Amino acid sequence: MLKLGVLVSGGGTNLQAIMDAIDSGVITNAEVGLVISNNPGAYALKRAESRGIPAKCISPKKFENREEFHKALLQELQENKVELVVLAGFLAIPPMIVEAYPNRIINIHPSLIPSFCGVGFYGLHVHEGVLARGVKVSGATVHFVDTGTDTGPIILQKAVEVQQGDTPEVLQRRVMEEAEWKILPKAIDLIANNRVSVQNGKVVID
Ligand code: GRF
Repeated sequence: MLKLGVLVSGGGTNLQAIMDAIDSGVITNAEVGLVISNNPGAYALKRAESRGIPAKCISPKKFENREEFHKALLQELQENKVELVVLAGFLAIPPMIVEAYPNRIINIHPSLIPSFCGVGFYGLHVHEGVLARGVKVSGATVHFVDTGTDTGPIILQKAVEVQQGDTPEVLQRRVMEEAEWKILPKAIDLIANNRVSVQNGKVVID
């Protein structure tokens, strides 16, 4: 059973999709062992608690500096024997944690990488960029996390149509419903069943 540590900071709809996929058998051989938020008000914490999943806030504000915060985060993951770290709305993860979990951290990004990703492309900014450029297809990407921003090996992608009259909020919701909530659970299931490997920096799925 692969033990997941899900890192969140907001609403937690991707966490919900993971928990639902475990319940329905879309994800096998994995369990959510721990949910950590950097934000005490994250609704994601309540979603975890309502399922009896250990949920904890580790706020950077409680530490003297970023390094102490990162150490506490890593310690929590290791003490709870987390095997796969899932970033579901959690922005930055430091090299210290990436190095402790090589190809064992995944992230969901709400665009088709390498478009609309990298520094500054998070949350609604991604969808604002998509609409400003006028592209007709957007989507989501699940990728392994390396020390860059959205640069790690791509595991799964799914395209979503951009529609006339979309606002960033409307497009964000469609990308979540049609892509994020599907490919994130699917990627976890593939990893939990040992079907994903990284060869020459690229993901191979058996
Ligand atoms: C999602 O849009 C995800 O792509 C991004 O952060 C958001 C998290 O939303 N990385 P939620 O907290 O899962 O609802």
